[in-house]
Amino acid sequence: MRLILLGPPGAGKGTQAASIVQRYEIPHISTGDIFRKNMKEGTQLGLKAKEFMEKGLLVPDQLVVEIVKDRLEQEDCKKGFLLDGFPRTVVQAEALGHALKKMNVALDKAINVNVDKHILIERAVGRRICKECGATYHITLHPSAKKDDCEKCGGLLYQRSDDNEETVSKRIEVYLNETQPLIDYYKNEGILVTINGQQDIGKVFDEIVVALGA
Ligand code: AP5
Ligand code: MG
Ligand code: ZN
Repeated sequence: MRLILLGPPGAGKGTQAASIVQRYEIPHISTGDIFRKNMKEGTQLGLKAKEFMEKGLLVPDQLVVEIVKDRLEQEDCKKGFLLDGFPRTVVQAEALGHALKKMNVALDKAINVNVDKHILIERAVGRRICKECGATYHITLHPSAKKDDCEKCGGLLYQRSDDNEETVSKRIEVYLNETQPLIDYYKNEGILVTINGQQDIGKVFDEIVVALGA
């Protein structure tokens, strides 16, 4: 299965990605996670990405496209993949299309997780992530059974530096201007499925499974 996940910041892409990749046994490729890992390790790429991410702006297309192209050529992507947070602009979508064509493969579905703008800020600002395993929680909407520690591995939970109200608002604005046009882009390609992201996490996943037809 070759999939992409579209949706505004805080829609639940990462949360759903964890279940999708488990069920379909495909790698989870999150460009946001790749940048955060590089930031943590202090690489050149991390330093460059940080400038944009902390302001809620998109990292330049050229930088992102090269990383994703390299990643898609790795062995584990032969059985399929789930792209989370990529593409985010029409330029990125076109570059992805060309790269897949060269590889003689095509996307099966573009999953659009639809959530009203007014609840996105609450979701993102209350998000907490496990330092060890990356599991995602929310202080009120999806708390860990172990409070400030991860219920899966006991790791400490932290808050992303771009999950403050000001930066999240900027990310939403950038999404509306640059990423939302991809909904029509993939509708025209005939592979768009829109999912109601404003229901229980498990129900959202059930809807995705039905939409994928397996
Ligand atoms: P990225 O990391 O992709 O962030 P994002 O798109 O802003 O999305 P989020 O990760 O914030 O939200 P999500 O949809 O994954 O929600 P989650 O499941 O965590 O990108 C970060 C930055 O990197 C960008 O701003 C940009 O600078 C750069 N970047 C990345 N990719 C790029 C690209 N392709 N081009 C250029 N720049 C790029 O859930 C959110 C919260 O809600 C959690 O607390 C969760 O527990 C809770 N929740 C989830 N689902 C539900 C539910 N159904 N009900 C109640 N609560 C829920
Ligand atoms: Mg995410
Ligand atoms: Zn953990």
